[in-house]
Amino acid sequence: MDKGATTLKKLCELDFDAIEAYEEAMQRLEDKDIADKLAEFRSDHMTHTDTLNKFLKARGEDVVEGPDSKRVLTEGKVVIADLLGDKAILKAMIANEKVTVKAYKEASDNDALSPDEKTEIASFYEDEQRHHDWIKTQSEKL
Ligand SMILES: [Fe+2]
Repeated sequence: MDKGATTLKKLCELDFDAIEAYEEAMQRLEDKDIADKLAEFRSDHMTHTDTLNKFLKARGEDVVEGPDSKRVLTEGKVVIADLLGDKAILKAMIANEKVTVKAYKEASDNDALSPDEKTEIASFYEDEQRHHDWIKTQSEKL
């Protein structure tokens, strides 16, 4: 597996990790409006995994079906399951968005990726920045 494919695979695993964290957060949040917005963000992550898998397939690589067993997110599903209160949950989600923003930013500069792959990744980077900023603003209101 070359560098480009490894980058796509890692991003896809990270997105699956994020999806699990979102699901846990959505179940635990008391504020249903925030939970609804997180559901919307979760679908962005699902679009990411679909597209990244399409790229992996086109490269002749296996598709990714879930997060890496090591889990990259430090504030992932397991941590969120133990948190109490919307503010604490949103704080964990902000930490996760920082990880995904960073990963997509790095990938958008990765020359091992094709122009098409880079274009999609640049738009996913924007998704992550939008998720981060929205959650941060909400958390400051609580
Ligand atoms: Fe996100």
